[in-house]
Amino acid sequence: MKPDVIIVGGGLIGLASAWKSRIKGMAVTVVDPHFGKGTSHVAAGMLAPVTEAHYGEEEVVRINSASAAMYPSFVEELEEASSQQVGYRDTGTLVVAGDPSDRAALTELVEFHQSLGLDSEWIAPTEARRLEPSLAPSIAGAILAQGDHQVDNRRLISALIEANRRAGTELITGSVKEFEVSKDKLKGVLLDNGARLESDNFLLAAGVWSNTIPGIPEPVQPTVRPVKGQSARLHFTSASHSQGAIFPRYTLRALVKGVHVYMVPRESGEMVLGATMEERGFDTSVTAGGLYELLRNARQIFPGITELELSETIAGLRPATPGNLPLLGASGIPGLTIATGHGRNGVLLTPLTAEVISDYLTKGELSWVLEVCSTDRYKQDAQSG
Ligand code: GLY
Repeated sequence: MKPDVIIVGGGLIGLASAWKSRIKGMAVTVVDPHFGKGTSHVAAGMLAPVTEAHYGEEEVVRINSASAAMYPSFVEELEEASSQQVGYRDTGTLVVAGDPSDRAALTELVEFHQSLGLDSEWIAPTEARRLEPSLAPSIAGAILAQGDHQVDNRRLISALIEANRRAGTELITGSVKEFEVSKDKLKGVLLDNGARLESDNFLLAAGVWSNTIPGIPEPVQPTVRPVKGQSARLHFTSASHSQGAIFPRYTLRALVKGVHVYMVPRESGEMVLGATMEERGFDTSVTAGGLYELLRNARQIFPGITELELSETIAGLRPATPGNLPLLGASGIPGLTIATGHGRNGVLLTPLTAEVISDYLTKGELSWVLEVCSTDRYKQDAQSG
């Protein structure tokens, strides 16, 4: 029997949309060559509507804030459905200024945050170090964003796979080789093992790979491009402790001579250090220079990092769009819905995306989010320009 929807892509966006659509009554199949091992696996798990707010991106801030507000109940429901914990942590975030020029940029940023009504305040170096004793004495102050939280993205993937299994979603490990479009309607997908899957509805949620699968006419393909991020995972060990290192409690972000770096400390003693922003196509190599720059800038504000054990280096590809809003909703081809282009905010936008996409697939409901993130916004821009 044909499923009600076939989802191409088993990262956080595909898996969460599958789970929500299944709960709302659809028969769902998800296809992915390596479930949860793409961008979602490399991510750091910051839930940061404030500290990811960029000038001129008010609509991105609006959807990020809406999804952040959904996180506690999303996590509660998912942990119950999967019997797994996902490491949601509501300790806030500090954005630290490395030197006086970074302080000038960050104090301006606080004003921008406050103009949008976001919870953001400037704190002096002594106050920042009182809150977070792991910070270097040389810091020049910090932004405190109490509402920017974190989740363990790898545990989130695992819980979503389990919740889908329990709910009866079909998870097929395989690569989609081609979309079969006939008479301007998407009819099926061909897999690399020769299998053909049919449905009346497809959701394309393959992140940065969403426009690499043949068969979808060029004007309908989502305008995503890969933006590489190199990162590392480190661990606080008993040796780190005996060397006097203090493990941070807050998520630490910093501007160091104008360059951004972040460190996300987990309850387990793991720390995610990230991340570069590089336009290098599909290259996922980790370079000495990339890692050196991250560690050098991180050490400037958290000197104890040099005592942590380095356990993993990895690079991932963010699915970026012009304007940094995701692409959500109807594609222009009947039967094909799109959910991709989440850029730096895929983990954060998972609950909101899953909710609006599953409402659209099950009831045809068009929320304000689908209007803001419409896939034809470039055509509208072109017409009005
Ligand atoms: N959300 C953090 C990053 O994309 O590096």
